[in-house]
Amino acid sequence: MRIAICPGSFDPVTYGHLDIIRRASQMFDRVVVVVMTNASKAPLFSKEERLELLRRATLGLSNVEVDSYGGLLAEYARTRGATVIVKGLRAMSDFEYEFQMALTNRKLYPGAETVFLTTTAEHMYLSSSLVKQVAELGGDIDGFVPDCIKEDILRKVERMGS
Ligand code: PNS
Repeated sequence: MRIAICPGSFDPVTYGHLDIIRRASQMFDRVVVVVMTNASKAPLFSKEERLELLRRATLGLSNVEVDSYGGLLAEYARTRGATVIVKGLRAMSDFEYEFQMALTNRKLYPGAETVFLTTTAEHMYLSSSLVKQVAELGGDIDGFVPDCIKEDILRKVERMGS
């Protein structure tokens, strides 16, 4: 069984992430979406909140599960027996950092290949930071995240602002 890991901060999950997760779910037997810590970002949503939003947004994908892990991605991939790490690539600006991580992860755990899926053109510009920014400034996030998590994001942003 081919197990792929889709790691990220998912703060919050967007249509961009969901597009990659859905496509990965068609390529592999099982996809584990794992909420992790990005040392260079301070998340707005707690780990539990990010997990819950992801759970809801991926409900329709039967071979996808969600999990969280506070340690190294390489370690997680090893313990789950995953042979693939799936990442979405938006533009050249993502590339250098992703390349560095892919090489580090291979060094730490040669048992998994990092596979990059190119984002669809329509999601090229989308990011979690953009979603938070638009929500904070009272904009419409309809086209960025699924309806089932939209209200939770707006409520959270509202609470943080008051
Ligand atoms: O969605 P992001 O913030 O781009 O995801 C980055 C993430 C969380 C996948 C990356 O920071 C990560 O792998 N963190 C886990 C800790 C780890 O393994 N660090 C070394 C990476 S080479």
